[in-house]
Amino acid sequence: MSDVSTAGILAKTIGFSLLLTLVFTLTTLLLPQVEGEAPVEQEVDLSSMTMDDFVVLGEDLFNKKGTCILCHKPPPLGRAPDVQGMNMEAVTKERLADARYKGVAKDVESYLRESMVDPGKYVVAGWGKKGTNDTVSPMPAIDKAPIQLSTMEMDAIIAYLQAKDGIEVTVKLPTPEAAAEVTAAAPASAPAATASAATVDEALAKYACAACHSMTSKDVLVGPGLSDVGARLSMEEIRQSIIDPNAVIAEGFQPAMPADLAAKMTVKELEMVVKYLAEKKQ
Ligand code: HEC
Ligand code: HEC
Repeated sequence: MSDVSTAGILAKTIGFSLLLTLVFTLTTLLLPQVEGEAPVEQEVDLSSMTMDDFVVLGEDLFNKKGTCILCHKPPPLGRAPDVQGMNMEAVTKERLADARYKGVAKDVESYLRESMVDPGKYVVAGWGKKGTNDTVSPMPAIDKAPIQLSTMEMDAIIAYLQAKDGIEVTVKLPTPEAAAEVTAAAPASAPAATASAATVDEALAKYACAACHSMTSKDVLVGPGLSDVGARLSMEEIRQSIIDPNAVIAEGFQPAMPADLAAKMTVKELEMVVKYLAEKKQ
């Protein structure tokens, strides 16, 4: 009798923890990803991948490694059109028909790819770099450093953006050869996600600061250029603008800086970055 009930309790406990794990996994999959999450490399088995998996990978890249979500959020927080909330088939038609369109895209897939590798081919009205009258895009080229997604990764994002609109997914699944290349290339480009950045450049890349700030000029990208920030702000103010970005908003800017950067940065990374910025005086 007691054996039976022990076994019963055990079975229930195991059942419960399995359920918990399942619920937890589902929640992490379904919850909108934390904004501003630092890029994290992950291993993906491309050989057995289905289009559904590829779409999920694309969504993950949009929210994490690709850093798209830093800017492309729903209003009023967004610093860019809400591409997750818009129907990209309708949008593409409108863009390609616009007299200001300078690209060579022909359909949704090629427009999305062009938007990522050459954002300046079309600058959505009202979203151009400040002071350029919508002739220059503040969006970084996604295939270049610091974000530097591969063709395969950009295809996954296109698959995601098409699938969420319920339109035909036109990109192809990566071939086993492409998969082999990615696997071969992975270790070099994949520092452990939790490892503290060794240099200030690594830290700036890890948290995508350079996607929003020029470090070498006063040019405005999404946020102010930081080449002279050390002359404008004290070390304490710089630290505060990273730890609590919404406490003081730089004049003329919208609050757009991720509020949880400091929670993700190691103390060493934060201090390295603060010191580096404090020394930038022109
Ligand atoms: C630093 C901010 C920033 C990041 C990061 C960013 N974008 Fe953008 N993106 C913009 C801005 C601003 C625009 C509007 C100006 C323009 O048309 O270039 C834009 C435009 C676009 C458009 C065209 C939208 C339209 O309405 O025609 C697409 C598609 C797009 N981005 C996709 C992406 C994807 C995918 C990623 C991630 C891989 C990404 N963006 C990362 C700022 C960003
Ligand atoms: C999604 C875009 C975005 C990212 C990513 C981002 N910032 Fe910002 N940052 C802004 C904007 C917009 C402002 C101006 C509004 C404000 O003060 O919050 C700003 C303000 C600042 C300021 C104050 C500048 C001034 O002149 O007052 C500093 C310093 C700064 N950011 C440093 C950083 C560092 C370091 C990182 C990376 C660890 C980073 N930012 C990542 C958008 C961003």
